[in-house]
Amino acid sequence: MNDTSLTLSAISAQLHTQRLGRCGHILSRTDSTNTQIKQRFCEQPEGFILLAEEQTSGRGRQGRTFVSPAGGLYLSLLLHPDLPFDKLSLLTPLAAVAVCQAVEQLCGLCPQIKWVNDVFLGNRKVCGILTESAFGQFAAKPDYSVVGIGVNLNLDRTAHPELAEIAGALADENILLPTRAQLAAAILNAFEPWYDQLLAGNGHELVQAYRNRLNCLHKPITVVSGDATYPAICTGLTDEGNLIVTDEHGQQSVLCSGEIRIRLE
Ligand code: BTN
Repeated sequence: MNDTSLTLSAISAQLHTQRLGRCGHILSRTDSTNTQIKQRFCEQPEGFILLAEEQTSGRGRQGRTFVSPAGGLYLSLLLHPDLPFDKLSLLTPLAAVAVCQAVEQLCGLCPQIKWVNDVFLGNRKVCGILTESAFGQFAAKPDYSVVGIGVNLNLDRTAHPELAEIAGALADENILLPTRAQLAAAILNAFEPWYDQLLAGNGHELVQAYRNRLNCLHKPITVVSGDATYPAICTGLTDEGNLIVTDEHGQQSVLCSGEIRIRLE
């Protein structure tokens, strides 16, 4: 690995943001940058970032593990969003769009989004996003939110055979691989303008950008809800980022991300 550049100064040298990524910390090895922000850094100002060279207990959605060996980008961004609950759910789509834009800009590739939180190149996942928020009692808005982003830059499939069929990495593509600092800065640069729009009450363009990158629109999918599964066609996306599906009886449903996931067929 030639990328020895994961320092805050290497990131800030490439940042164009006002607030995001302007302060932070880098750990060499930790359980999970999301967990560490929640335990040790949640009082930090909006835009604080925590990165790790590797994670020993990287976490994904629905209690899954996010395998996080050295070489990947593991970035958690702390926000104190003045957003109501229904808009808060757009932070994950926002991060997915920002990752796509960053990868597009640095690598000339065209990633797509698998609803709700995965970024794909072709049919392989290269990035996962986990957003977590903490609320005080009776609070309508969160004390803080943590947007955790994990990107596979390299992936040693012999060390992780369980990922061989599903996970991809930027290094699999015929590109000049960006450094983790370049990628982190590009993600934050893309994130901030969408975030400012959302704070200003305008999420419409963001949802449109997310919709444009969805890999399941108008395609057959399997909806997985607990132990139940059923086939459907993905027919649209609401302005809240919820998926609209039509089952084989023509019945339309709106899926919220919570416990539901989809499989592309
Ligand atoms: C998923 O695939 O379901 C989401 C994966 C999110 C991984 C990132 S890596 C940085 C942050 N720390 C974690 O433990 N998880 C997120």
